[in-house]
Amino acid sequence: MPATQQPDWRNHTDHHEACTSLAKSEPLVTSAEINSLRTSLSALPGGDALLLQAGDCAESFYESSGPHIAEKLRVLDKVAEHLGDCTSSRVVCIGRMGGQFAKPRSRATEQHGDGSIPAFRGHMVNSEIATLSHRQANPSRMLWAYDASERAQRAMRDHRRRQRLAPTVEGPWSSHEALIIDYETRLVRRAVATGEPYLASTHVPWVGDRTRQPDGAHVALLRTVTNPVGCKIGPSATPDEVARLCDLLDPRREPGRLILIPRMGRAEIRKVLPPIVRRVSSSGHPVIWLSDPMHGNTRMSHRLGLKTRHLTDMITEALMFRDIVEANNQRAGGLHLELAAGDVTECIGGSVRSEDDLLRHYTSLCDPRLNLEQAVDLVEAWAKGVASR
Ligand code: PEP
Ligand code: CO
Repeated sequence: MPATQQPDWRNHTDHHEACTSLAKSEPLVTSAEINSLRTSLSALPGGDALLLQAGDCAESFYESSGPHIAEKLRVLDKVAEHLGDCTSSRVVCIGRMGGQFAKPRSRATEQHGDGSIPAFRGHMVNSEIATLSHRQANPSRMLWAYDASERAQRAMRDHRRRQRLAPTVEGPWSSHEALIIDYETRLVRRAVATGEPYLASTHVPWVGDRTRQPDGAHVALLRTVTNPVGCKIGPSATPDEVARLCDLLDPRREPGRLILIPRMGRAEIRKVLPPIVRRVSSSGHPVIWLSDPMHGNTRMSHRLGLKTRHLTDMITEALMFRDIVEANNQRAGGLHLELAAGDVTECIGGSVRSEDDLLRHYTSLCDPRLNLEQAVDLVEAWAKGVASR
């Protein structure tokens, strides 16, 4: 089965050892947790709770210690609570964390100085440091990613236990793009009670816009597991393709099994999304529609050489998403955001007024993330239902 976006590490001396060790490892999440989340999500398509999925574009090994995780959870809670308060809804919260260590790339290499080096593919694969040797793919990194995920999962589990006192927000559960086939396939486990396979690397795996080929390895993997699964859909998606993905990923038409995440960009969404929503609606798949207003709105600041996004674009796309989904008798289920724990200046909006302000605190390993103030602005605009600026 073809698998796109994979590191070329099959001949590395540590490949076999890393894969064998992962196959013997403890599950990072339990089937009981997955069942509990499936139950919560099953109420979303026909109910009034909202979903918030948010966190780093790429998690970092350097930010996987206890204090780092605690700070991420604090910020995630704040955004989730704010969404709940502004909309008077219960919020199910899913972090892009506890395993978000691998990135698909549009280009396999990048130019540095005089030469070209492999692109950074997330800490599960290689280092962000821009030298030829640091960018070599190293399969032992899968084990480091497992260990970092394990620490984060433990912290998230404690957090969920303590948080039962605040019934308006449930979570955060974990999620990541299930990208590296060597890693993910070694973490499939069987539920003791039912014998059914589930992906034990995260609660909610998703397939990205670059790896959602209906006959590809990523969709094939997610078809076989009982987790709730996400699927990003970008501007090249067609109604036929999305209908096929729904049939593959949600063959039994189970409410909350499939989270469809359009990330069209403000320029494309009005043209591309309506026929897709119509098609899914008429197919009877009870999906959760989640707006990712970030990935279709990335721009390059050529002067600074940095990727950025404008809050106004994101607000516009999120509101258009909601209008389109609701106009087709479907429910707009919530937001998928890239969000940082620190006071970063990666997106333009609020106190980050212009491209010059980006340099103040730009630390993302990959895509530009919202800071808390910007995420709060976006949530409020979503709640009000009007473009606020
Ligand atoms: C992402 O979510 O970081 C990502 C790569 O998204 P997409 O697959 O939508 O481009
Ligand atoms: Co991203």
